Amino acid sequence: MYIVNTIAELKEKLNECRSRHESIGLVPTMGDLHAGHVSLVKRCVAENDVCVVSDFVNPTQFNDKNDLAAYPHKPESDAALLEKNGCTIVFMPSVEEMYPEPDTREFHFGALEQVMEGPYRPGHFNGVAQIVSKLFYAVEPDRAYFGEKDFQQIAIVRNMVAQLGLKLQIVSCPIIREADGLAMSSRNARLSAEERKTAAHISKYLFESRDMASSCPLSAVREYVIDHINTEPLFRLDYYDIVDGISLQPVQNWEDSPYAVGCIAVYCGNVRLIDNVVYKIDGKMVK
Ligand code: PAF
Repeated sequence: MYIVNTIAELKEKLNECRSRHESIGLVPTMGDLHAGHVSLVKRCVAENDVCVVSDFVNPTQFNDKNDLAAYPHKPESDAALLEKNGCTIVFMPSVEEMYPEPDTREFHFGALEQVMEGPYRPGHFNGVAQIVSKLFYAVEPDRAYFGEKDFQQIAIVRNMVAQLGLKLQIVSCPIIREADGLAMSSRNARLSAEERKTAAHISKYLFESRDMASSCPLSAVREYVIDHINTEPLFRLDYYDIVDGISLQPVQNWEDSPYAVGCIAVYCGNVRLIDNVVYKIDGKMVK
């Protein structure tokens, strides 16, 4: 496995791979890797000749400076985990390498960014688009892998790829969960023991609501999740929306969309967690 810190070194290695007609997959990460990232890396390794993992805490996507300051940086343990899982090249650039000049590009995602995370994290998706586009230009991958926990991020990245006319496939990969159902996230480590126990109730209520969905109206399912989250003193709900999985616009009835997904953001203590559950896909309710 190669560890490279500059775009020039990265391009040099990848040009060698391309001259051998090798396919290239990219897993963009901000490091502090866990089993969720490993699942993306394994899929990338299985589907491509070359697996590039970027490990970079991107400052432009943090609207909260405290969140950026608290973000863990563990290059040594990340590199060891990536090597063990078959990664070919790890790209660990500095902030100066990725942003030699301030990035003044402004992306517009219309209705996709006006819902869910959008109003709570102004500028976040613009920052994601800035760094992901820079990574796509640097790596020129055939495929790029993203986790479905960040459901809105995938829709934004797909839209950005279409806007920029890039030729790569965006591969979305299922959420990986802890044994008690909590979606894996680097933020979970910031939870106290009591908060960690309570945090598992997010997926519990989502799964219970999915069990209800085929026999209840959408409004009742929505109310079930909101009411249960609101009864727990450690939780503070930012939003819970049932949306169309493509347009991300809220749906009022199951018949209104062939692909209905419930997306939640909730503080557990001071830690903001997101998760989602698919209720309906390809026109069929999920059992
Ligand atoms: O999902 C993440 O970890 C980040 O938003 C990403 C895609 C690596 C961009 O910094």
